[in-house]
Amino acid sequence: MNIQWYPGHMTKAKRAMKEDIKLIDLVIELVDARVPLSSRNPDIDDLAKGKARMVLLNKSDLADERVNAQWAAWFEAKNIHAVKVDSRNKGTLKQVQSVVQEACKEKIERDRKRGIMNRPIRTMVVGIPNVGKSTFINSFAGKACAKTGNKPGVTKGNQWIRLNKTLELLDTPGILWPRFEDQSVGLKLALIGSINDQILNKDDLACQCIRILKERYPGMVSQRFGLETEDKEPAAILEDVARQRSCLMKGGELDIARAAAMVLDDFRAGKLGRVTLERPEDYKDKE
Ligand code: G4P
Repeated sequence: MNIQWYPGHMTKAKRAMKEDIKLIDLVIELVDARVPLSSRNPDIDDLAKGKARMVLLNKSDLADERVNAQWAAWFEAKNIHAVKVDSRNKGTLKQVQSVVQEACKEKIERDRKRGIMNRPIRTMVVGIPNVGKSTFINSFAGKACAKTGNKPGVTKGNQWIRLNKTLELLDTPGILWPRFEDQSVGLKLALIGSINDQILNKDDLACQCIRILKERYPGMVSQRFGLETEDKEPAAILEDVARQRSCLMKGGELDIARAAAMVLDDFRAGKLGRVTLERPEDYKDKE
């Protein structure tokens, strides 16, 4: 399966982000906790050079809790503060404010030495499409905060949301693009639904989904669909799903496309269980 995705937007997005990043102190990078590295853009290290950094492992409610903890530790070991969140659930965002202060400790101290007190930290949310940036901004900013209006030096159209006395948030998220050097990255992003399904072969994708789940979470597919999956190839399992769920076409033939959509929808909605598609140990040789 060869996956490519809107390279045309890259240059424009990168230029916009370079401009916006000049204005901020802290980069809040959202990644999808189910694929924390595949949903990052490695250029972020370069783009965010000299800025305080933190990572939010978003959609952690859909990811494997044990692996969430491993990834949080992985980022911390790289001196990037990491917090597990579910952006739809405000309770999980409570910790973010204190981690922001921690991540900006040096800047706050620098300001203090220069006699600058209480200058709010300016932050920006960045991440690839569909990772949850708008959801996070809406939940984190809430209704209570007012937009501060344009200020000198702010790109036209950019607005700052004053969250409290210590924090201002750029209201437009920075959109990064995923990297596609490696086809497995494209596959994982397709599986979590970050690539438009219309350009993909869903039958193939559902088979890949079944293959990876069998490897990483044995028993998960068999349990969800009430099937015997051992010693069976993914395509045969998909046929069994079609049979089991009565996905039939007019002449009684199996409707594989419908079964594939069912598998993918269930997987993405977390109905098979909490799943993480990559683990820090997978990247050991590459570091
Ligand atoms: P973006 O701005 O980065 O492109 O992403 P956006 O906030 O639009 O979120 C993309 C989808 O991910 C939305 O679902 C949103 O509800 C969901 N989402 C965001 N954060 C989380 C999270 O922490 N956990 C879970 N489980 N889902 C999250 P959607 O189906 O596209 O829209 P809707 O059903 O919410 O309307």
